[in-house]
Amino acid sequence: MAEPESKQKWQPGKKDMVFFAIVAAVILLLVLGTSDRSTKPVPSDQIHMQVTSRAECMTCHGVEGVKPQPMGHSKADQCFQCHLQPTNWGKAAP
Ligand code: HEC
Ligand code: HEC
Repeated sequence: MAEPESKQKWQPGKKDMVFFAIVAAVILLLVLGTSDRSTKPVPSDQIHMQVTSRAECMTCHGVEGVKPQPMGHSKADQCFQCHLQPTNWGKAAP
């Protein structure tokens, strides 16, 4: 009646060990990744020291700009909340 194969006890085989190793590696990467996750700072160059509004940022970082924000980038307005502002920001000579 019943198939004898299905009655066999499960034992971790080579493939299962590989699978567990991959799962463990992924978890480890996620844990390590979150701890030192940091967003790129705004460059401390002449351009970035003088920009003071989001609209200005977006002339270069909008979809048509020289360096567009990556796909799926946050729509949040406060750029400096995530991207460290340049050193001496706003103090550059005109
Ligand atoms: C006149 C054009 C221009 C304006 C305005 C501008 N940027 Fe940029 N930005 C660039 C260019 C070009 C790069 C890439 C080259 C570089 O690293 O300097 C860049 C790079 C960046 C980067 C990535 C740095 C990296 O390591 O890849 C961030 C973050 C950034 N800008 C944020 C801002 C913010 C925030 C503002 C507004 C306060 C702003 N930018 C205004 C031209 C501009
Ligand atoms: C909620 C957080 C957050 C805010 C607010 C934010 N960003 Fe970003 N931005 C990121 C993350 C995360 C990335 C991914 C790449 C990285 O690690 O910098 C990124 C990437 C970028 C890059 C590409 C950097 C590169 O070298 O590929 C640019 C340019 C950029 N942001 C510009 C801006 C501008 C301009 C604003 C304000 C209008 C802004 N961001 C606001 C989180 C944010």
